[in-house]
Amino acid sequence: MRAWGFTSNGGPEVLEEFERPRPEPGPGQVLVRVAYAGLNFAEVQHRRGEFGEPDGLGGYDVPGLEISGVVVHLGSDVEGLAVGSSVAAYLPHFGGYAEFVLAEAEFVQPVGALPLADAAAVPCVYPTAYGVLTDAGRLQGGETVLIHAAAGGVGSAAARIARALGAARVFGTVGSPGKLALADRLGYDALFLRDEVTGGVLEATSGQGVDLVLDPVGGPVRRASLDLLAPFGRVVVYGDLGRHEDWQADVRDLWKNNRGLAGYNIGDVARRSPDTLGTHLARALSALASGELAHQSPTVRPMQDVVAVHRAFESGRTSGKVVLAVW
Ligand SMILES: NC(=O)c1ccc[n+]([C@@H]2O[C@H](COP(=O)([O-])OP(=O)(O)OC[C@H]3O[C@@H](n4cnc5c(N)ncnc54)[C@H](OP(=O)(O)O)[C@@H]3O)[C@@H](O)[C@H]2O)c1
Repeated sequence: MRAWGFTSNGGPEVLEEFERPRPEPGPGQVLVRVAYAGLNFAEVQHRRGEFGEPDGLGGYDVPGLEISGVVVHLGSDVEGLAVGSSVAAYLPHFGGYAEFVLAEAEFVQPVGALPLADAAAVPCVYPTAYGVLTDAGRLQGGETVLIHAAAGGVGSAAARIARALGAARVFGTVGSPGKLALADRLGYDALFLRDEVTGGVLEATSGQGVDLVLDPVGGPVRRASLDLLAPFGRVVVYGDLGRHEDWQADVRDLWKNNRGLAGYNIGDVARRSPDTLGTHLARALSALASGELAHQSPTVRPMQDVVAVHRAFESGRTSGKVVLAVW
């Protein structure tokens, strides 16, 4: 089968197409013929070497945390899935940039009426968005939410979910002026340039601040976020897009003002609480298919363009979600 991966860490140009044997499913596993692979920032980190050097079969690591496709073979002990079903799968150990992939059955869900291209944008992004909002962020109806990297995959999904869960107001930040115009289309009350977030949020909230901040950026943005919290507010940390030095908080700022700082990591949730992840994935696919949760179809690019797509994505030039077509 064809796959796309790298034998040394580096820039987008290290990604190449190669051949590897089609795998066979073991107990609890499902072999899926991949239709689309969602593009996630973690794949940029994987390629750069932030998760270590490639050590896969034949020296290749194959990125790809989420896919959609069709079940072609079930391992033993797999129930509730059938050969020929259209499914979406979260892949905690990567591997989605390939014609076929082995997925753990607990992270595979039928897509229902959702088109396969749309479904590929769900398995990592939506459980993360639900997780940061509800499990780590403890979002309550009527609260105000601020989402950094607001126009990206997780950010734009989190904005729609927050609204569906009853958030009263949803604000976001972006890195460049061109993305400010996306506020209406993405369902934000307002978008601010990240460098101007403090003034923008304080003005929009009459100085009250926000109840929940979702922060995958770090550094000065994280510091500013803590200062923007209303009493009882929470900042959820779930990424390091800015590659800033680690940052320290004065815990007195937290307990004196009933503020909280929480972390979220989907890989850790997959290991420790796989049911939680599976439940969020099923909930997202069902809500998107029924229209209960509004969604925007992703931008579809052929897998052959993976080098150019990684380059644009890594430089922050993309918005919304991008999926790579493998068929
Ligand atoms: N902890 C978890 O479990 C988990 C799970 C999934 C994703 N994540 C994290 O969530 C974040 C978003 O992931 P995603 O896949 O949805 O990506 P994305 O948001 O679709 O793309 C990245 C966006 O981040 C913004 N950005 C800010 N600083 C950046 C920088 N220094 N370099 C590049 N982009 C920068 C850019 O938009 P602007 O124009 O706004 O700058 C860019 O478009 C990432 O940090 C990722 O690691 C964490």
